[in-house]
Amino acid sequence: MTAPKKLYIKTYGCQMNVYDSERMAEALGASGYVETGSPDDADMILLNTCHIREKAAEKVYSELGRFRDLKDAKPDLKIGVAGCVAQAEGEEILRRQPMVDLVVGPQSYHRLPEMEAKAGKGVKALDTDFPEEDKFERLKSRPKAKRGPTAFLTVQEGCDKFCAFCVVPYTRGSEVSRPASRVLAEAQDLVERGVRELTLLGQNVNAYHGASDTGEMTLARLIRELAKIDGLERIRFTTSHPNDMDDDLIAAHGEVEKLMPYLHLPVQSGSDRVLKAMNRKHTAESYLRLIERIRAARPDILISGDFIVGFPDETEEDFSQTMALVEAVEYGQCYSFKYSTRPGTPAAERAQVDEAAKDDRLQRLQALLRDQQVAVQDRMVGKEVGVLFEKPGREAGQMVGKSDHLHSVFVEGEGLSPGDLRKVRITRSASNSLAGTLL
Ligand code: SAH
Ligand code: SF4
Ligand code: F3S
Repeated sequence: MTAPKKLYIKTYGCQMNVYDSERMAEALGASGYVETGSPDDADMILLNTCHIREKAAEKVYSELGRFRDLKDAKPDLKIGVAGCVAQAEGEEILRRQPMVDLVVGPQSYHRLPEMEAKAGKGVKALDTDFPEEDKFERLKSRPKAKRGPTAFLTVQEGCDKFCAFCVVPYTRGSEVSRPASRVLAEAQDLVERGVRELTLLGQNVNAYHGASDTGEMTLARLIRELAKIDGLERIRFTTSHPNDMDDDLIAAHGEVEKLMPYLHLPVQSGSDRVLKAMNRKHTAESYLRLIERIRAARPDILISGDFIVGFPDETEEDFSQTMALVEAVEYGQCYSFKYSTRPGTPAAERAQVDEAAKDDRLQRLQALLRDQQVAVQDRMVGKEVGVLFEKPGREAGQMVGKSDHLHSVFVEGEGLSPGDLRKVRITRSASNSLAGTLL
């Protein structure tokens, strides 16, 4: 028997890339690869890239440059670029970095094993098509290996929203939902392999509209079906768009016990003028009303969000409206970014805000978001929460897991194992985590 070949995958960007990397590793497993944690002993290096902000492509080129010595020492080493930079740059990557053997866009991963075989024969392979077939269906199914307690499951991909700043509709293509039966079968399989918490993924996950025997299924209906799976204890989903939060999905937050009280609902800005220029198709007020309705259904829900500061033509007055919206919502967790010009998107052509103003606004926004995060976390002290334990903590006898609200919680507990779901009383709030005692 020949020794297995080694695959090193480095993943950038969003959770969908994490999920895709797992699926690619499994597909290449069928071609004789096992994963390794270091590029040094790899037979194949795959960079799964992100294009969301500037310099992402440059980062990929410089990362590739670092592999040149490895390639010189081992000419058989294959180097591949996958993900959103592969989609956006395509052939340019092969031109600029001749040592790259294959370039594969996110919708063509099912063709990866063929491409790997081609590269093995010394032929460069490039695929950035948007084929009709369901790549996940065609990717070799997951082997029956044991899994950790949490897993991602992509249910929807692509985006038709075309926010004026964003590359995703171009790199991932238009919205496609996987059929409900395949999602349910994959969920069942994951649960049989030890998974107790699933996070459903999609660029616009709440726009999910998968085919099912009884007509099209919404995300809310899919969640209600998933909740019937014995052994699956927790369901989460990300990322949602405010315009796709329908009544049934809001109601599900109050009705489905397994649906966790955490919602990532990006708004990007608190200024209607900026929201309009961003092509978000909602207002600050409609977003605030939506949050009110969600909190009415599930009062303890933790809201998380994304913000962009310094979008073209954003004034100090626009920015103060963003700060006011943040004050009104009280976020438990947030990501905030300086606007970054993406070639080919409408906003790239507009008057840019100067860098110093962007820096200043980002600092002020992040200070406020940080205060809110700490306040929300501190208020957990004394409360009883569910914790799904994932791994040992830094200190002996300690285990760490995630609370219902997605806070990291450290607990001293004899006999706890990964996968245990227990009630915990929160006793202390630290900088980025909570501590508690088992009940
Ligand atoms: N589909 C999701 C998120 C997509 S990208 C949604 O609609 O919310 C994740 C985040 O990156 C976005 O929410 C946005 O805040 C940020 N982002 C996207 N494009 C950006 C750009 N050009 N510059 C800065 N931030 C950007
Ligand atoms: Fe990008 Fe907007 Fe689509 Fe989100 S909804 S992926 S921000 S275009
Ligand atoms: Fe990045 Fe592509 Fe995800 S651009 S954020 S990896 S969809």
